[in-house]
Amino acid sequence: MCGIVGYCGPKPATEVLLEGLKRLEYRGYDSAGVCVGDGETFQTYKRRGKVRDLREIIPEEVGGFYGIGHTRWATHGGVNDQNAHPHSDDQNNLVVVHNGIIENYQALKNKLISDGHTFKSETDTEVIAQLIAVMYKGNLEQAVREAVYLLKGTYGLAVVHRDEPGKIVGARNGSPLVIGVGEGEMFLASDVMAMMAHTKSAIYMEDGELVSMTKDSYKMFDINDQHIEKQVEHIHWELEQLEKNGYTTFMEKEIHEQGQSIQRALQGRIDFDGATGHLGGLNLTAKELLNIERVEIVAAGTSYYAGMVGAFLLERMARIPAHAELASEVRYKNPIVQPSTLYFVVSQSGETADTLYAMRELQRKGATVLGVCNVVGSTIPRESDGGVYIHSGPEIAVASTKAFTSQISVFYLFTLLMARMRHYSFEEGYTFISELNRIPALVEQTMQRAEHIREVARRYAHHENFLFLGRGLLYPVALEGALKLKEISYIHAEGYSAAEIKHGPIALINEHTPSVFLVPDGGLREKVINSMKEVQAREGKVIAVAVDGDDEIAEIADEVLWVPKTHELLSPFLMVLPLQLFAFEVALELKRDVDQPRNLAKSVTVE
Ligand code: AGP
Repeated sequence: MCGIVGYCGPKPATEVLLEGLKRLEYRGYDSAGVCVGDGETFQTYKRRGKVRDLREIIPEEVGGFYGIGHTRWATHGGVNDQNAHPHSDDQNNLVVVHNGIIENYQALKNKLISDGHTFKSETDTEVIAQLIAVMYKGNLEQAVREAVYLLKGTYGLAVVHRDEPGKIVGARNGSPLVIGVGEGEMFLASDVMAMMAHTKSAIYMEDGELVSMTKDSYKMFDINDQHIEKQVEHIHWELEQLEKNGYTTFMEKEIHEQGQSIQRALQGRIDFDGATGHLGGLNLTAKELLNIERVEIVAAGTSYYAGMVGAFLLERMARIPAHAELASEVRYKNPIVQPSTLYFVVSQSGETADTLYAMRELQRKGATVLGVCNVVGSTIPRESDGGVYIHSGPEIAVASTKAFTSQISVFYLFTLLMARMRHYSFEEGYTFISELNRIPALVEQTMQRAEHIREVARRYAHHENFLFLGRGLLYPVALEGALKLKEISYIHAEGYSAAEIKHGPIALINEHTPSVFLVPDGGLREKVINSMKEVQAREGKVIAVAVDGDDEIAEIADEVLWVPKTHELLSPFLMVLPLQLFAFEVALELKRDVDQPRNLAKSVTVE
């Protein structure tokens, strides 16, 4: 997703902007640009490609003391230099960078053209620049305020004008913007990571808010020109968390740090005295939790699969009807909200448009919606009715890994809390929570097996189709494994219920289409073995993920990826790890850009 950086202060603006854009690269983009000014010059440089390509076209001597920058993930218009941001008005007096989609841009563009304005790009952003220029009468913040009044859609904007050197105006509606407050310098960005090298003091803007800043001051106001006072918050992340710390890719680092990230998700939330989970932030009393009769979990992508695990757990352990649903579907299905239903939205970034808009629709209908998020201060946790941070630390790789295991950690804790409030005995709770507490160590054990997984991945990297198969609690894990392989290796992979393949997908099986089976350590194990044999009877290769000691599987499967034994209901923590590593190693073998796969964005803030 697009990235915005703005700076005004004593440092060379070009360097600050380019460094900030580098830190936003993980979000996914296809072109980049900056506009820097020093009071005399006011120069824009932009091109298709990476930030390093942009740096090549910026003359050494260009420094400037203010400016704005952007990484673009194309929505309107092709990927080329012309459509890259920043965009200016046709007199080249002001420059804009923009995240979001303006839905009425064409009507506005037609009007501006009929008024004699000319356009150079296919973007909606250029329309914003022209509109602000038309409104400009010597005061940039007023011109921006008047212009955004006419916009329908979403925007995070940063704007500069040649006649007001050193001033940056920002406006937010639906796309995140954060103000960075420094010592004699100010920042504006779409993500705190862009400013963390300079300041840990942030002001998170809300929809309908604008800011006008110079290096020494800032003022906030709303779309009706009402002054706003906002709290300066502390950014809790550390800069080294944004580095690879010896790993070649962020994805590898984030896969391998899951022992610690799960530990952080569980920290302070395991209550041995009560043999239950303890979650602050739910904003619900014990009585209110006891009155919950149904749970709905709403999310996208990997977070949706984590929600599916949560829903299964709630039904199996807490005996509460629970269901996970795609956020993009919930928003438009006119959901039926009942007072005894509790909703969760799950989002690593806290900015996913589908999930944010679904939450708002549910809240409009009177639902209580709790967020399970990672990025502190992001939009979803700020607008939800409470919730739980997963504390996994910044997840930079586009492919989500540690967030998944931290998200399910929260659902294990919540499920235990709800189960113990209902029928789960102290002894059952204590046994379960003791095993949950061992998971970080078992994750570390599993990571020791990465070399074998790499060997298997290299043997299978040339295949063009895969099936990932699991049942019950491992069905969403199979879906997640398929998504991981798809999104970073570009190989077609389909997740399916293991029992369901005989109802159609088994037609896909031949010697060229391997099947990855998640073999449970109990319940449905025999049924899954039957499915494995059905696949092998049709020349299909079987890669099994199985529990240490299940030697029969080694007799049946063509390959086995072993995981340590644990409580069957905790198996998703461990079974997902070989799937993450398998996808990672296949992608490396195919020389893919593992951290920034083609076409993908880390946080999809558009519908
Ligand atoms: C997962 O690897 C993908 N990057 C994607 O499916 C992601 O999980 C989805 O876009 C949801 O993102 P969120 O958790 O930030 O809401």
